Amino acid sequence: MKIRIVDHPLIRHKLTMMRDAEAGSKDFRELLDEIAMLMTYEITRDFKLDEIEVTTPITTCTGYRLSANCITVVPILRAGLGMVNGVLKLIPNAKVGHIGLYRDPQTLRPVEYYCKLPPDMSAEAIVVDPMLATGGSSAAAISMLKKRGLKNIRLMCLVAAPEGVEVVNSEHPDVEIFTAALDDHLNSHGYIVPGLGDAGDRIFGTK
Ligand code: PRP
Ligand code: URA
Repeated sequence: MKIRIVDHPLIRHKLTMMRDAEAGSKDFRELLDEIAMLMTYEITRDFKLDEIEVTTPITTCTGYRLSANCITVVPILRAGLGMVNGVLKLIPNAKVGHIGLYRDPQTLRPVEYYCKLPPDMSAEAIVVDPMLATGGSSAAAISMLKKRGLKNIRLMCLVAAPEGVEVVNSEHPDVEIFTAALDDHLNSHGYIVPGLGDAGDRIFGTK
């Protein structure tokens, strides 16, 4: 399996609080936002910088700036929305595209219902979705971006199941997956075990 686990102590601590079935939507949302921000630090570690000259109060020196239009963040609706602000806090100029997919409860296959992407997509895209379960939704979203010509795509999730990692690895071997945790397995309903339940419902309080 090709996957990068971002397991900084702060992330492990916050994720544990999110897993707790007693955590309410407000806490769940805030923790997801914080973890997405912490993971952005790691996922952008090798991003290219442009050299610029900067004038300090003392002299001029070489400084660095993220390439303009360096990144598009693409949440998979709904639950991916919970990770967008965390990324934008660190990369405020990022563009945001939206892909709407829901999992058919019977087949567990993703069903597309929305896609709105910036016309001039940047070279790099980060697909965000807290849950990588069967991998169907993430793999479909990545295929949609590739169809529009995107080449450098990374996937940021919170909790991944080995089954989903294998699907994304085999359908998109060029895409690096970053996750806060690699869990044990999927149950018969396609839920991640131990997981944290239905991320969308917990974010938006819909159950
Ligand atoms: C959840 C989750 C992922 C998907 C993961 O979305 O946010 O998008 O399931 O499952 P998969 O890896 O098996 O495709 P869901 O379909 O529940 O929609 P929601 O975000 O609107 O609640
Ligand atoms: N979607 C979720 O929100 N949670 C899971 O465990 C699996 C799919």
